[in-house]
Amino acid sequence: MADITSQSRSYQKSIDLFVRAAQVIPEGIYGHKNPAFLLPGACPYYAARAEGGHYWDVDGNEYVDFLCSYGPIILGHNHPEVEEAAARQAADGLCFNHPGAAMVQLAERLVALIPGMDWAVMAKNGSDVTTWAVRVAREHTGRALVVMVRGAYHGAHAWCSAYPGGVLPEERAGVLQIGWNRLDELERLVQEHRGEVAGVILTPYHHPTCSAQLMPADSFWPGVRALCDREGMVLILDDIRAGFRLGMQGSLPLIGVQPDLICHAKAMANGHPIAVALGSEALRAAAEAVFLSGTFWFTPVAMVAALTTLRILEQTDAVAHMARLGTRLGEGMQEGARAHGLRVTVSGPPALPYMTFDDDPDLYHMQVFCREMIARGVFLHPHHNWFICAAHTDADVDYALETAETAFELTRRELGG
Ligand SMILES: Cc1ncc(COP(=O)(O)O)c(C=O)c1O
Repeated sequence: MADITSQSRSYQKSIDLFVRAAQVIPEGIYGHKNPAFLLPGACPYYAARAEGGHYWDVDGNEYVDFLCSYGPIILGHNHPEVEEAAARQAADGLCFNHPGAAMVQLAERLVALIPGMDWAVMAKNGSDVTTWAVRVAREHTGRALVVMVRGAYHGAHAWCSAYPGGVLPEERAGVLQIGWNRLDELERLVQEHRGEVAGVILTPYHHPTCSAQLMPADSFWPGVRALCDREGMVLILDDIRAGFRLGMQGSLPLIGVQPDLICHAKAMANGHPIAVALGSEALRAAAEAVFLSGTFWFTPVAMVAALTTLRILEQTDAVAHMARLGTRLGEGMQEGARAHGLRVTVSGPPALPYMTFDDDPDLYHMQVFCREMIARGVFLHPHHNWFICAAHTDADVDYALETAETAFELTRRELGG
């Protein structure tokens, strides 16, 4: 790791590219990868390459990558077996008139892997399948309304986007919101709109940006399931963020109940673009009635990458390894902060941890801390949960915790403690 520590960092090439981009691309970089969501001037904007648990930006700076491309990288960047399988498929062709055999194999694999699921459909992005799942719930029930949690992210489409630009009020009118773990609010909404609620869409635990992650209360998921059964509503699990990081059945063991529809994407093909919706037999007719298509959704390369990623996850100790390293990272961060008189909370499952400073309402402490970590080659997002991958090592965690010693001290000084 000596090479990382000794680098003197500049982001000039990133900045130059961004200036050029601003001329020809609205916002330069749009969406959540916009520097405004990160630390403008104190982090890279453009990546050049990646290997295992590390990546390099366009200025040649190296980082331990604890963001893993916002989740898709689960085995490590550029995993040789996944890339070999994908390249073999790509050599036979990229985009055909018909689906390939891999689509059938992947659907069979997922249906066998995930209890209670009888069919699967494939798309490219998480937003494609969450939006489609909501429509399937409406089609199945003949009802208009859907309930989601305030602050949850289900994608960039109009019905759930956190941003109002270009969205018609009627596109949002079909969506009601409750607080996380607020079974009482759900009960009240369902009473108020009796016979009108098609379904409830939930992430397995709450992972909002800019605040600590919240696990489900013991009674939450069973309560939601019971209410859905009583009122004939469809229960949709959006497992796109946590996905297979928590195990081969996704987050089902964590929630402890059986959803009717499940959405996966992000990590299932180790960076290749694919999203999946799975459903129970009872929803098959509705699934057949809601038109689903995309020019690139049937391309086999990502499907082969998904089959290979799932096989490696199953055959190795990847899930346990990510949980162990995440636990070390989280516990080490808490100890490091305490040693510098700072108080932090590490929240969420160990493989997807997030840290917040106590008494840091505008996340300024977090921004200073992450700035100092990034400046020393440990890429941590100040506002979004972090991700551990199977290629991270104990040495990566050691380096992050050593670096955190310095970053906590600099944060304490800058905040005048
Ligand atoms: C829980 C969850 N659902 C849906 C999405 C949307 O996925 P995508 O960005 O691939 O459209 C995301 C993306 O971050 C997510 O975390």
